[in-house]
Amino acid sequence: SPNKITSICCIGAGYVGGPTMAVMAQKNPDIKVTVVDLNAQRIADWNDADLTKLPIFEPGLDQVVKEARGRNLFFSTDVETAINEAQMIFISVNTPTKTYGSGKGMAADLKYIELCARQIAKVATTDKIVVEKSTLPVKTAQAIKSILNHTGNGVKFQILSNPEFLAEGTAITDLIDPDRVLIGGDQTPEGKQAIQALVDVYATWVPKAQILTTNIWSSELSKLVANAFLAQRVSSINAISELCEATEANVEEVAKAIGMDSRIGSKFLKASVGFGGSCFQKDILNLVYISKSLGLQETADYWEQVIIMNNHQRDRFANKIVQTLYNTVAGKKIAFLGWAFKKDTNDTREAAAIYVGDRLIDEQANISVYDPKVNAKQMQSDLNYLNTRSEDQNKTYLSTESNPYDAVKDSHAIAVLTEWDEFKTYDWQRIYDSMNKPAFVFDGRNLLDTEALESIGFIVNAIGR
Ligand code: NAD
Ligand code: UGA
Repeated sequence: SPNKITSICCIGAGYVGGPTMAVMAQKNPDIKVTVVDLNAQRIADWNDADLTKLPIFEPGLDQVVKEARGRNLFFSTDVETAINEAQMIFISVNTPTKTYGSGKGMAADLKYIELCARQIAKVATTDKIVVEKSTLPVKTAQAIKSILNHTGNGVKFQILSNPEFLAEGTAITDLIDPDRVLIGGDQTPEGKQAIQALVDVYATWVPKAQILTTNIWSSELSKLVANAFLAQRVSSINAISELCEATEANVEEVAKAIGMDSRIGSKFLKASVGFGGSCFQKDILNLVYISKSLGLQETADYWEQVIIMNNHQRDRFANKIVQTLYNTVAGKKIAFLGWAFKKDTNDTREAAAIYVGDRLIDEQANISVYDPKVNAKQMQSDLNYLNTRSEDQNKTYLSTESNPYDAVKDSHAIAVLTEWDEFKTYDWQRIYDSMNKPAFVFDGRNLLDTEALESIGFIVNAIGR
């Protein structure tokens, strides 16, 4: 058919662009897929013959890359050639919260998106379908359209919204077997043709019933709303965890009891030290900002509370450590198990560990961290990014160990910040023997077997119990 796509370009080789395009290429061997990025190191890492050097750690990703790379999947820094060659261009660049100007701290910073649109407009010599893969404020397609349609070189563009719902740590299974694929576009004949072209790309592996098409604004907004609802569930159960701690109810039992109601559902009800990740906070702030901009103050306040609750949960966890350790942690070694924002990823963006660590360093604690996938450089850079104190000071207070037993040795307390499975398998007697007494465990993920630890002699604090 005239609509059959044979060449795809994706701008942005990050956590979304890389895995998404790898699976798309794996499932469509007859489509050439080129992923481009300005970051030359990132592209070099994607091209590394050693698959353990891929810039992103995701279970199963290496096998997908191994199969498709060099066959019909390519990683390149030559953005212009890839744009020009492609019939369909995904924009998968970062859309962080603005750190300056109006909307600072809330609105999405769209400068990278606009740069992409301008670059496409500049180099395109044939008609293109441009797909928003990044998470964007509702109505962004209007701006992209305006930039693309004022090139005056006769090239025609169709804009689609195709938000990504993968979660880190399970990206490959989420991509291969998605709950749904959402595609929004103009409801004109040309718009519908473009939608169909993208439907066909997904239909090689996603059942038709799971491919949902909508108008473009519904699609853009649905992505923000999906993340807002997910984060809201975490904040809801975390709010209840505080109530449980004050009443002898057990949040795990409460979560199970309410989750068995099929209208509520059992997923995403795990109380924790707080949600992290690059998107929940950013996307809710964006939703709040849009609502405020439209004069919808009550809607804005309602969603902002999800963030307020999350900040509170992190503070509460840090404060509990300080209070339990006799109101002083100054000069005490506190071991962190985990730094990533969740298990099975090396991503640390907005991880609760950063904020809890910062708060404890304010109290002059010495933090010693072990994370199976995060290196020392990343941890320092995460802490420095908060700008609370000098980089040298951060270095003296935060150290990283490559072995968990070294991290916990001589510590006064262990805090579990990420739910890595391996933490459950440690020799906890050996850990206990190497610590200062009384030996405390603060389980920010309700991961460990409290009774077993208590029988060894630990004093255990978990969330919501
Ligand atoms: P990322 O920071 O990992 O990757 C973005 C990449 O884009 C970077 O490598 C950057 O160098 C590159 N880039 C920026 N501007 C460019 C330009 N003009 N030309 C070429 N390359 C450019 O970000 P990410 O986590 O992949 O997120 C991308 C988008 O997807 C965001 O909007 C995010 O909200 C959304 N999203 C993320 C996830 C997730 O799990 N991380 C899930 C769903 C949606
Ligand atoms: C989330 C969404 O789940 C994805 O659908 C979405 O595509 C993505 O954001 C995005 O837009 O970036 P992700 O952030 O990768 O994915 O991971 P989640 O599994 O959603 O976890 C987010 C945070 O919430 C983690 O810190 C996790 O530990 C925490 N969480 C999650 C809880 O504390 N309790 C839960 O029950 C679930």
